[in-house]
Amino acid sequence: MCGIIGYTGGGQHDAASILLRGLGRLEYRGYDSVGVAVQTDLGIATRKVAGRVPDLWELVARMPVYGASGIAHTRWATHGAPTTRNAHPHADCGERLAVVHNGIIENADALRAALERAGHIFRTETDTETLAHLIEDAPGDTLEARVITALEHVVGTYGLAVICADDPDKIVVARQGSPVLLGVGDGEYFVASDAAAILEYTRSIVHLDDGDIAVLTPAGYHVVDRESHVQLRAVDDITWDLEAIELNGYAHFMQKEIAEQPETVRSTLRGRLVFDDGAARVDGLNLTSADCAAIRQITIVACGTSWHAGLVGRHTLETLTQIPVTVEYASEYRYRRRIPLPSTLTIAISQSGETADTLEALRAARAAGSRVIGLVNVVGSTIAREADGGIYLHAGPEIGVASTKAFTSQIVALTLLGLHLGRERGLGLEERQDLVCRLAQLPGLVAQALQLEPEVRLLAEQFAQARNALYLGRGVNFPVALEGALKLKEISYIHAEGYPAAEMKHGPIALIDADMPVVFVAPHDDVYPKLLSNMQEVKARGGRIIAITTEGNGGLGTLADYQLRVPQTAPLLSPILTVIPLQLLAYHIAVLRGCDVDRPRNLAKSVTVE
Ligand code: AGP
Repeated sequence: MCGIIGYTGGGQHDAASILLRGLGRLEYRGYDSVGVAVQTDLGIATRKVAGRVPDLWELVARMPVYGASGIAHTRWATHGAPTTRNAHPHADCGERLAVVHNGIIENADALRAALERAGHIFRTETDTETLAHLIEDAPGDTLEARVITALEHVVGTYGLAVICADDPDKIVVARQGSPVLLGVGDGEYFVASDAAAILEYTRSIVHLDDGDIAVLTPAGYHVVDRESHVQLRAVDDITWDLEAIELNGYAHFMQKEIAEQPETVRSTLRGRLVFDDGAARVDGLNLTSADCAAIRQITIVACGTSWHAGLVGRHTLETLTQIPVTVEYASEYRYRRRIPLPSTLTIAISQSGETADTLEALRAARAAGSRVIGLVNVVGSTIAREADGGIYLHAGPEIGVASTKAFTSQIVALTLLGLHLGRERGLGLEERQDLVCRLAQLPGLVAQALQLEPEVRLLAEQFAQARNALYLGRGVNFPVALEGALKLKEISYIHAEGYPAAEMKHGPIALIDADMPVVFVAPHDDVYPKLLSNMQEVKARGGRIIAITTEGNGGLGTLADYQLRVPQTAPLLSPILTVIPLQLLAYHIAVLRGCDVDRPRNLAKSVTVE
């Protein structure tokens, strides 16, 4: 959940500026405190502050650190408050070592007690500091040997980088459970939590696997396992450009990513629609026709917004394949008693491909005999590499912590999967061809829905001071109500709940009064008449209704106080359009409330810890 970066370049570049520029691109991974440690002529110099990367730039400008190698970190606090003292890097007693870490050391308390009994003095409340003292204590001729020995005592997850004043140009990296990759340059080498941090300097990256230890010096790098056996790891090329991770004139990444959706939906569809045959070409699924025919159950595991996409996917997959689908919170699923899943297809949905709970749910399903596929946006991420097959979203990097374009592309990908499995299981040509045509129209319809922005901005002014909100939907749009509520919660800090509209009568209706905005996701589909009754119930209690409905639907009359109309499309695809005004509403309300839209408090983009 934190971001780490390291650089060694034999003096080609000033390490501090490379590290801080990279840290700026990792900030969406955690942003409560930051720090850097650079190998200088006088040993390791550390600068850290409770705050953001710009604060660290300011500190380093006042107290410069010059050197050819170093490590840096941006934090999402797990153990110890987000203070300057608890900010990474952490040192050993002698301050000969510096460590940055992403993950959780689960047995930190026990290790700390043992190390303190052995005379070590701890300066912070963090779990990570135990690593510095463990390495300090560990025997070994080389830094990597000492790191390997130290990690034998560690229980937990980590992506870490270590430097030592006795070995100035060397960086030792270790991975267990948290994502880490290396960057391969010309006589200079990088380590980072993700590629965005180093794209400015190299497009060649090496993904590390769990158990890997990497050693970087200006002369080169190598990867070994815990027995120091050399491991060969592929060098991949980053396929996207820096522009993809720049604001390009937008005020926020979330605003940019909402506006990108016509293009990102088009990109998820590119090369995957076969009109004549009403089929979806989804190479990489790694499912034979026999595999498709043998599926008796589908289980979707995911978290947050991806879980909401999974709920939409349930409707789509059940409709197109006639296979029963369950949608599970990955964090709950991974600890539930496991029953054999021989004829189950498990789908792990994750934008980042690194969410710890979803990764572990995938591993648990596989252990129970299920085939597992991933619906992932980040190429080369752990879920993508561990799944038996999958579908990449190709939605480009998503930087805004609040997920938007990934959600719409996830629903497109689930529909493509449904088309593919449906075709293998006898879904009719006509129905398939119709859906393929509807999918092809989506980018244009999404662009149309985005034209509602001026109306949404005005609406946001009406509700920017709301204290609560209720989002209601039915059928395939109930998950959109959940997603709308999540977007508002996570970036504006207004308490909001999403509910199946009919469920309202069983409790939440007690909350309804003139101060409670109620958002209905009400496209004109087969459950629309039922929604009208629910609107009546809210109206009768003085609730203020915002209705997201479809063009041409004159049936609302004066029932809703505000209406936002999205284009009509196939019912299964309507969530891709109805969510757009809800993304915009949350965005503009958060902007009006002066919230940090891209870095909402207490959140991080990729949740790599439990
Ligand atoms: C959504 O806006 C949040 N950032 C969060 O709920 C997110 O969807 C969740 O953490 C899952 O992330 P993933 O798709 O990368 O696995």
